[in-house]
Amino acid sequence: MKRILAVAALAMAPALLAQKFEGLAPTPPMGWNSWNTFQGKISETLIKEMADALASSGMQAAGYRYLVIDDGWEAPERDAQGNLVADPVRFPSGMKALGDYLHVKGFKFGIHNCAGTKTCAGLPGGRGHEFQDARSYASWGVDYLKYDWCNHGTANSQETYKTMSDAIRAAGRPMVFSLCEWGDTKPWTWAKDIGHLWRTTGDIMDCYDCQGAYSLGWKFILEIEADLAQYAGPDHWNDPDMLEVGNPGLSAAESRAHFTLWAMLAAPLMAGNDARKTSEETRRILTNAEVIAIDQDPLGKQATRFMKHPGKQIWSKELSHGEWAVCFFNDSDAPVNLRIDWANLTFLKGTYRIRDIWQKKDLGQTSTGLVAPVAPHDVVLVKLSPI
Ligand code: GLA
Repeated sequence: MKRILAVAALAMAPALLAQKFEGLAPTPPMGWNSWNTFQGKISETLIKEMADALASSGMQAAGYRYLVIDDGWEAPERDAQGNLVADPVRFPSGMKALGDYLHVKGFKFGIHNCAGTKTCAGLPGGRGHEFQDARSYASWGVDYLKYDWCNHGTANSQETYKTMSDAIRAAGRPMVFSLCEWGDTKPWTWAKDIGHLWRTTGDIMDCYDCQGAYSLGWKFILEIEADLAQYAGPDHWNDPDMLEVGNPGLSAAESRAHFTLWAMLAAPLMAGNDARKTSEETRRILTNAEVIAIDQDPLGKQATRFMKHPGKQIWSKELSHGEWAVCFFNDSDAPVNLRIDWANLTFLKGTYRIRDIWQKKDLGQTSTGLVAPVAPHDVVLVKLSPI
């Protein structure tokens, strides 16, 4: 009898562990991540300064609540029991104390590790330690785990990420699980029950249209997103990588367009600038409540591209209450004069009121066409509300 019960319990175990914690990301997660600006040059002092800056600049109030510590927080070796430990010099108080600090300040605590044997920075990875590590994260109060894909050898991505998802579930603390597998094996086709978001591309670079071996400017990332809308929705988002808004490689127009298009894509909005040095212009972009509302719309639809002509891309995102966000993007290097006859936008039904989001101006109704200059690499973003 005992044996039958044990067998029955075993048979039930996978079913119990197969699901991520549901409902943690009904809208795309928003926050700040250390990687884009600081790479491995991070410390508990820096993270605390960043938390304070996010609070005082109005970013936290605008919705940026996950503070994610990317690669570089760990000591080079696990301890004698195989536990991950924080770097004793740069994080002397340990990760639990840092998590407590963030929680007291009203933030959620995010951390990075890797599904491979080592992280991309060569620090201990999670492979073979998934359940032990998930227990450590839970004991530190972690709310968000970004899980990278360096040094994975011949590991199968689906199995590996599922193991970590199961480990989080077993550790018992709800954590947003962010797969950072770079789109290599199309996680949008298999990760919906495993995690809450998945990277779709290599790393974003601080530029509009440059390219490195593993990284690319946001213009190229946008191309990849164009075919992925059907895979995104509440609690399961495509992640076109973190924001470069406000970083030196982008002009103001490019930062504004990048932010707008990421909001159209229902992308996670993870700021990646030095929050202590945010210019007024960058602050205005990152905290624009009307743009953020488009990203965070509860319907959870990712925009699709309606038209692509040189200098004139049209992206549309269905919003709740019959509203639409429409973004006109000048991808060319010359200014264009945009002319829109709304009747040609065949996804629209009836007449709408037009709100120009960046100009913060009501523009009348779609019975009249739109004429607007658009600077190179800039956007016009409107919200349409049915009449
Ligand atoms: C990979 C990820 C980045 C960052 C680095 C850290 O390149 O894609 O987002 O986490 O690793 O090493």
